[in-house]
Amino acid sequence: MTADDSVQAAARFSEERSAEVVAATFAGTADPRLRAVMTSLVRHLHDFVKDVEPTTEEWAAAIGFLTEVGATCTPTRQEFILLSDVLGVSMLVETMNNRAGQATESTVEGPFHVVESPARELGADIALDGKGEPCLVTGTVKGTDGVPVPGATVDVWQANADGFYDVQQPELQPERNLRGLFTTDDEGHFWFRTIVPRYYPIPSDGPVGRLLEATGRHPNRPAHVHFDVRATGFRSLVTHLFVAGTPYIDSDAVFGVKDSLVREFPTIDDPARAAEAGLPNPFRAVHFDVVLRPEETRP
Ligand code: BEZ
Ligand code: FE
Repeated sequence: MTADDSVQAAARFSEERSAEVVAATFAGTADPRLRAVMTSLVRHLHDFVKDVEPTTEEWAAAIGFLTEVGATCTPTRQEFILLSDVLGVSMLVETMNNRAGQATESTVEGPFHVVESPARELGADIALDGKGEPCLVTGTVKGTDGVPVPGATVDVWQANADGFYDVQQPELQPERNLRGLFTTDDEGHFWFRTIVPRYYPIPSDGPVGRLLEATGRHPNRPAHVHFDVRATGFRSLVTHLFVAGTPYIDSDAVFGVKDSLVREFPTIDDPARAAEAGLPNPFRAVHFDVVLRPEETRP
């Protein structure tokens, strides 16, 4: 055996040294971050396989599952995000990247922000299908120093009274139903009309739904409105406003609930306020202040 042969033999694949041998092939990766990520991925993946010891049929089924997840994706359906969501990975990445401090906490974006929200005037009604319990949403965008932020964009989207987003029911709902892009006024205020959201199941007619079913998990999310808030000089924030008391608040299928994001939506019986808001009396109302952190603050 030559010296070269013994070097080759030392690098040969074996069950015991599998991760080490594969990770070594990334040693020449120019980008150090990519090298670190691939090395760690191989180490954890091989540990996982050694822990589970899948049969060849089980491994083929796992690859078949992932293939189906990919095949289920369309321009308006993202099954891979859904898989990341139900495994809690989306929330973990989100939370690690947005350690909030004094700012509003973040949560998952979810797979339904797939069309642009139309720019709307403050006070506009985003409920284009006229269904559901009318609701006034008000709030102020501020920095962590408490100073209001004029000119911030507040992008909101939510499911309808039946628990479906517009893109899930293109034949039934008006285009861009329950979506709006608002800009805060000179005092950082925003307000708009909508309906009280309802809890709903995440799409469960695909491979992720089958996974939930096979593991005895329900697919439901508590009622919420999505927010994506942006302003020059501040870090963007993707979050939700949750309805206090909604079903599934303690068992969200995607682990998105944070206590600081839950609000009461009381019924307001005040004809003058209803007329001012352009809503029937009585109506529901919620106030949600959004605090953004300065751009330079890292998690
Ligand atoms: C949503 O809230 O839109 C959502 C989030 C994660 C998975 C499915 C839906
Ligand atoms: Fe949602």
